[in-house]
Amino acid sequence: MNKPKRPSIHDLRRMKQRGERIPMLTCYDYTSAKILDQVGIPLILVGDSLGMVVHGHDSTLRVTLDMIIHHGQAVAAGAKNAMIIIDLPFATYSASDLPLSLHSAARAVAEGGAHAVKVEGGRRMAPVVGTLVASGIPVMGHIGLTPQSIHMIGGYRVQGQSEEAAQRLKAAALALEEAGAFAIVLELVPAPLAVEISRELTIPTIGIGAGSGCDGQVQVFHDIMGMYEDFVPKHAKRYATLAKAIREAAQNYVDEVRAGLFPGPEHSFDRSKDFEG
Ligand code: KIV
Repeated sequence: MNKPKRPSIHDLRRMKQRGERIPMLTCYDYTSAKILDQVGIPLILVGDSLGMVVHGHDSTLRVTLDMIIHHGQAVAAGAKNAMIIIDLPFATYSASDLPLSLHSAARAVAEGGAHAVKVEGGRRMAPVVGTLVASGIPVMGHIGLTPQSIHMIGGYRVQGQSEEAAQRLKAAALALEEAGAFAIVLELVPAPLAVEISRELTIPTIGIGAGSGCDGQVQVFHDIMGMYEDFVPKHAKRYATLAKAIREAAQNYVDEVRAGLFPGPEHSFDRSKDFEG
């Protein structure tokens, strides 16, 4: 069997040109990363959604660079064939502090194992993208609903609804491409607008709640696996019901321990076998 090759940013552009759809999933740990690698997923995002689905926060805002680097290291240990993209967390980058932005991105790459970073924001992020790209760090943009600006936006709702807002999003996408971004996430954007943006760009768009016309799709691992039950977004399809399966397995374990049924003889050691090594 041929070993799958980790895709480069150039491969992604070629995939767009060939009309090959690009799947991406979030991931935050070694075991899950290994499984995603086995199915040949090209892109893994160590997203700051980990604040909510792994750490139980009510937004992504409390995720720190140290936290995301820690999860990045676990993912990098498991994913040997996917491109790993790490989210730069809230307040670790800014157009008004380019040295901070570069320092954060360099840590994500050097310590976290990222092959690229993702930054949220439109036109105002162009200088950040330009600075990181000039330093050899590939950057994925993220426009539409940008959860790190949730208090400015005022709620998790579809963006680009008015003509003016739609034009702003298109201009933002073009500015990020011009600045050197290798792909752009479109989150909660009306499907027809996502199609228009995807047509205008030469780099891939990766949609989440942006319809089927994007060049790729991204979802949060815990949403599509049915692990996170606090809230199920409309755009997430459940491919499994792992929370239910884990609950049932845990209940069986608890019941069997209480009843003295586990461990059985097959899970126990006798003295001679213990000493055989
Ligand atoms: O953090 C995340 O999971 C993301 C995706 C929703 C794109 O940024």
